[in-house]
Amino acid sequence: MQARVRDIRGQFDADLAAVGDATALAVVRVRYLGRREGLLTLLLRDLRDLSPQERATTGRAVNDLKGHVERGLEAAAGRIDAAAATDPGLSPLELSLPGRVRRPGVPHPLTQVRETIEEIFLEMGFALESGPEVESDRYNFEALNIPAHHPARDSQDTFYVDGGLLLRTHTSPVQIRTMESRRPPIKMVAIGKVFRRDPFDATHSPVFHQVEGLVVAHGITFAHLKGTLEHFCRRVFGRTLSLRLRPSYFPFVEPGAEYDISCIFCGGGGGCGRCKGSGWIEIGGAGMVHPAVFEQVGYDPAAVTGFAFGLGIERIAMLKHGIDDIRLFYENDHRFLSQFPA
Ligand code: FA5
Repeated sequence: MQARVRDIRGQFDADLAAVGDATALAVVRVRYLGRREGLLTLLLRDLRDLSPQERATTGRAVNDLKGHVERGLEAAAGRIDAAAATDPGLSPLELSLPGRVRRPGVPHPLTQVRETIEEIFLEMGFALESGPEVESDRYNFEALNIPAHHPARDSQDTFYVDGGLLLRTHTSPVQIRTMESRRPPIKMVAIGKVFRRDPFDATHSPVFHQVEGLVVAHGITFAHLKGTLEHFCRRVFGRTLSLRLRPSYFPFVEPGAEYDISCIFCGGGGGCGRCKGSGWIEIGGAGMVHPAVFEQVGYDPAAVTGFAFGLGIERIAMLKHGIDDIRLFYENDHRFLSQFPA
């Protein structure tokens, strides 16, 4: 035991002599005084196994070593602090360092566009509605006149969850939920996340955001739909533009249309790549609510009419800011995000 005490003392002196900074000193402190595995701690623990006589003499030697170690560590700490204070490169208080700049966060560009869209529809007297992102087949498809065998399901494949649930492929289920819970007149928009089994490329994402609009009352016509969309598009892009409706097919509207705006880059002249030389840019889908949908929610198709429309928020944000790759929105790269101060 006495020999072990001598060995540890020798090791400690060598270790301490090699210490150059506070980190190395902390390692030596733990090696000798560490509460569970420290060499001195173990030594003190082993004293218990000695006879009372041996314990008295060895105990004195161990205590002596402990004092030696503690004094050595303290002296080394003092030396390291003094060196740091005189070396400008290591000073603990470096007055010439630049301060830390606090960069206040701003809403994500998609959130900014979403808020702008909400404001425009609130101004126009629409109410904001919402629905779940995990939907039932009935709300996402069946009640929207898309039965199980319908080919329209192919273009909206999605992610299926146990229990007959799925991640909604569009915000149109909120139309059904709103009509089921209220009586006409209805004038609502719903904004939220949707999911599709689409590729992740420059213009598609498997998770994106849509805006849904629905107006139902006596005497609602296609003219109301066109006026609403035209006003919205002018407000969101902040300029005078023309709106064009092209016949298209969505099972839950009849007649159905896709709506385009005159190209905001070339003014509709047709001489630019953004509109592929056509002078028009596609924005979304729309139409008059199909009588079969009214029947699903218990409305009388002979008593009310309505229009509905949908659009993608990413698409609006890309057009507004001239962004050519949708993936930039989801990369959280500060160099991109900092270009959209609130
Ligand atoms: C629909 O989702 C219909 N529910 C819209 C609708 C509502 C029609 C009411 C009639 C009445 P569509 O599949 O075309 O339609 O999608 C609407 C918009 O979502 C598109 O114009 C596009 O801007 C956007 N979109 C569709 N798929 C993606 C995707 N993978 N990534 C990003 N945006 C997408």
